[in-house]
Amino acid sequence: MPLIGVIGGSGLYGIPGLEEVGRKAVKTPFGDPSDSYLIAEFSGGVQAVFLPRHGAGHAVAPHKINYRANIWGMKELGVERIIAVNATGGIDSAFAPGSIVIPDQILDFTGGGRPATFYEEKDVVHVDFTEPYCPELRASLLGAAKKAGVPAAGKGTYVCTNGPRLESRAEVAFYAKAGGHVVGMTGMPEAILARELELCYSAIAVVTNFAAGVSDAKKLTTTEVIEYMGKSAEAIRQILKEVFPLIPGRRGCPCKDALKDSRL
Ligand code: HPA
Repeated sequence: MPLIGVIGGSGLYGIPGLEEVGRKAVKTPFGDPSDSYLIAEFSGGVQAVFLPRHGAGHAVAPHKINYRANIWGMKELGVERIIAVNATGGIDSAFAPGSIVIPDQILDFTGGGRPATFYEEKDVVHVDFTEPYCPELRASLLGAAKKAGVPAAGKGTYVCTNGPRLESRAEVAFYAKAGGHVVGMTGMPEAILARELELCYSAIAVVTNFAAGVSDAKKLTTTEVIEYMGKSAEAIRQILKEVFPLIPGRRGCPCKDALKDSRL
């Protein structure tokens, strides 16, 4: 079975319960990934490749992450599908801290400040992004959450901001009106870069706090983000443990043909 990639977010620098069987450093035409890739094994012998998005010890800020190198490295290692874990603030009051969402849509507010394509030299490519997350991988994640007994919302719109600052109350109110459910800083351009390399990509958004102005809190803290990520680590592990056997051996989704008919 082709390798599954896992990209960990704030507070998730490994997958508890995974046995490390090696590490690989990858050089890419776009520079260095956030860290070396951890080759890990789940019980049952399924191998996964893990990368901490922010590097070891969270040294790289969201707007500085080399998303292109991170995704390129995954492809280089033979990964076909990527499961991303993202810390988020709940915009919708139904998504309280501790909630888990498998988002189905994205609103990108990074503002073009991040290199967001592999195609800026010779080729002009417009990749379809109607469904930004792989439907097959999303279904597997939802099935896994159900099997693991972890409540997870099966739909939700992930708003991506450029960061590194948190949002103002008015911004969050605007994102809510625009249809956003959770807000984070790392979902883009990760999702589109994976699509450009014809990799499947799906996310587990972990709500670590109510977004600015959603609760009575006067101030948001990174401490609570890390604390809630830690609290959710076991739920993430349970989902990941269950998801591998549910992922079909051969891809039946459109992601593998994303570049077909996309060139000018
Ligand atoms: N906003 C943006 N990114 C985040 C948040 C938030 O409230 N919480 C965790 N990541």
